[in-house]
Amino acid sequence: MSAQTWPQDACLQTAPSDPSKARTMAVKATGLHLSYGSTHALRGASLCVDPGESVAIMGASGSGKTSLMGCLAGLLQPSAGRLTVLGQDLHTASEATRRKLRLRNVGMVFQYGELLPELTIRENVMLPLQLLGTRNKNARQRADELLERFDIAAVATQRPQHVSGGQAQRAAVARALATKPPLIMADEPTGALDTAAGETVMLGLTGAAAESGASLIVITHDHRVAAYLDKHLTMSDGSFITGAGGW
Ligand SMILES: Nc1ncnc2c1ncn2[C@@H]1O[C@H](COP(=O)(O)OP(=O)(O)O)[C@@H](O)[C@H]1O
Ligand SMILES: [Mg+2]
Repeated sequence: MSAQTWPQDACLQTAPSDPSKARTMAVKATGLHLSYGSTHALRGASLCVDPGESVAIMGASGSGKTSLMGCLAGLLQPSAGRLTVLGQDLHTASEATRRKLRLRNVGMVFQYGELLPELTIRENVMLPLQLLGTRNKNARQRADELLERFDIAAVATQRPQHVSGGQAQRAAVARALATKPPLIMADEPTGALDTAAGETVMLGLTGAAAESGASLIVITHDHRVAAYLDKHLTMSDGSFITGAGGW
């Protein structure tokens, strides 16, 4: 399908009058479908995210939010629909291309951080850079900048299980930012935190995204978390519905 034939209703707020704009969008997803056996997790989900835009995705448990993020990250392959992330058509991309996109250009944060328990906080933050072949000295320098920024330098040599939930989550955010990715996605990043720690994580995420001009997608149940983001969208039953501040 060429850019000109994107369905009209796919991205009402951001529908490009100039088809070439589709190439510059951070995310352009149209009519995504995804099933796990007989469970239809995504039923025609469409989403556009501009460079530098921040988006909250809300919706009840089971509405397909995590499945959508899996697709955007190239971890799950939709059975139908079109999906371009940072100019890369994920339908035609090889597994190697998708892996590179994830590692270099998409920073991901999960509800429980998912830091590697056998590595220290600093080593966790250095890891994406090392996987990309960055020299150890430079990876360490970048990691230390981020640890300072997120106020966790004091626990740099601790393992994740020995720091607080808020510190671990800030380390997960630092890790996601290590490669200065143009797209940052977070799935319930404050779900396991108290309000104060959640606020710190959201300020860190939105501040870093705004500074580097990155797009930010945050999945959340919490309206206080969504309030940090520009656009609010709601999913229900595998696709987007009109919500407060949404389409
Ligand atoms: N790995 C899986 N295997 C089978 N069903 C799944 C799997 N992951 C999610 N689902 C189902 O897909 C639907 C959407 O789930 P999910 O994307 O996790 O929604 P949300 O993140 O909004 O809670 C739900 O019905 C869920 O039970
Ligand atoms: Mg989920």
